[in-house]
Amino acid sequence: MNTLKHVGVAAVVMAWGALLPGAATAADVKPTYTKDIAPIFQEKCEACHRPDSIAPMSLRTYEEARPWARSIRARVEARQMPPWHIDKTVGIQEFKNDRSLSDAQITAVVAWVDAGAPKGDPKDMPAARQWPDDQVWNFAPLFGQQAPDLIVRSTPWTHKAGANDAWWKPVVETGVTEPRWVRAIEIRPGTVKGRKITHHAIARLQQEDPDVPQNPDADGGVFANAGTFMEWAVGKQGELMRPNSGKLMLPGSRIIWDIHYSNGGEDITDIVELGVYFYPKGQEPKYKQTLHLMGATNAGGVDIPPNVVKATQGFFVMKSAGRVESFQPHMHLRGKAMSMEAITPDGRTQVLSYVSSFNFNWHNSYVYADDVAPLLPKGTILKITAWHDNTAANRANPDPNVWVGYGDRTVDEMAHAWVNVTYMSDPDLKAELDARKARSGRTQQQQQ
Ligand code: HEC
Repeated sequence: MNTLKHVGVAAVVMAWGALLPGAATAADVKPTYTKDIAPIFQEKCEACHRPDSIAPMSLRTYEEARPWARSIRARVEARQMPPWHIDKTVGIQEFKNDRSLSDAQITAVVAWVDAGAPKGDPKDMPAARQWPDDQVWNFAPLFGQQAPDLIVRSTPWTHKAGANDAWWKPVVETGVTEPRWVRAIEIRPGTVKGRKITHHAIARLQQEDPDVPQNPDADGGVFANAGTFMEWAVGKQGELMRPNSGKLMLPGSRIIWDIHYSNGGEDITDIVELGVYFYPKGQEPKYKQTLHLMGATNAGGVDIPPNVVKATQGFFVMKSAGRVESFQPHMHLRGKAMSMEAITPDGRTQVLSYVSSFNFNWHNSYVYADDVAPLLPKGTILKITAWHDNTAANRANPDPNVWVGYGDRTVDEMAHAWVNVTYMSDPDLKAELDARKARSGRTQQQQQ
């Protein structure tokens, strides 16, 4: 190792040491795998980086992680891993499903790699993290059941060893014969092997719901009035509704699957299963959650000339008061960024969320934490702005020299977000706002 490199290592190790209060000397605080890094990997990486999961390698032991040190440093420093693409400088920052690394965790990983990725004392190694069994229905015991009330299965797909990524979109009847209120949903690949190839799965519920505006302009037919019922990606077990809230499932409904399969290194055949738990018959929750398609939702709305970065906007009016629960941008290969702003009836505009480094491989739904989920009055306009990069600078761009319009293929584009809204009356909105104010008042007092 040359001298210059030595100096660099010492500087970084000292910077890391400066973060730890009461650290005596730089030498004492050199981050090691067993003490500093393994807890981070357990918390933020193992969900995907463990055997038989979607990521290409397991990161559960030193021996498994060490060969990847350089690549880990690069991906972590660039905030490409774990995949989480929300801008950290604007908009709401607390989420129920945040899997990103803190600044201190990034500093630790970088310092560890720069120090030569040392193992450290085996006695420091935390106990192996236990993961819930992927092959059971995790919510069933909560409701005293063996299995969900309804299981809807996608039709089988065989992914050949080494094959390109594929998007599989079968449409399946739910078989529901009367309106039922849903209180929880779970999705899982049907087999252990299936986990290796199932990158993510989206189940859209298609039904004639009078409360959801029809979308007659929508081109590709399949999207008309089809809200995302649930989205599944590795590390996610399912979705429990808030108390006294539910989604309504109607007779004649169908599930439109959108499953992203990728290479698993061998021929693998799989199905994906959607498990649905109902409220008991006759029990109607007070609040209805509705998933909306917002933004530019039709053929006329997407018009991207060659060799430009283009912004596309769409507006959605809230016909009653409500709480915005989540934000999930949807674009294809040229997608670059997307924002959601709220324009309230008093004329104020606030940025709710901004996904600044969109990546088509990752369909993240950003779910707001309870005390920050926007509570908005009737008449609020939600403004969605999508940016597409149709230049050569976008490495995912298959051809910067062609015009791109709306369409279902990955080489066509889309410019919308899936946004979950829980509607409520004006008095209920005021009660929610007052309760939130009281809670934050209490925490401020405690801090003083
Ligand atoms: C939500 C799932 C998920 C999480 C969480 C996750 N990864 Fe990944 N990771 C993947 C997948 C899938 C790939 C391969 C596809 C890709 O590169 O996007 C990958 C690729 C990588 C690569 C590149 C491997 C190569 O071929 O060079 C590195 C390095 C990496 N991850 C490190 C990490 C680290 C470190 C963490 C935690 C701090 C982490 N990942 C968290 C799913 C995940």
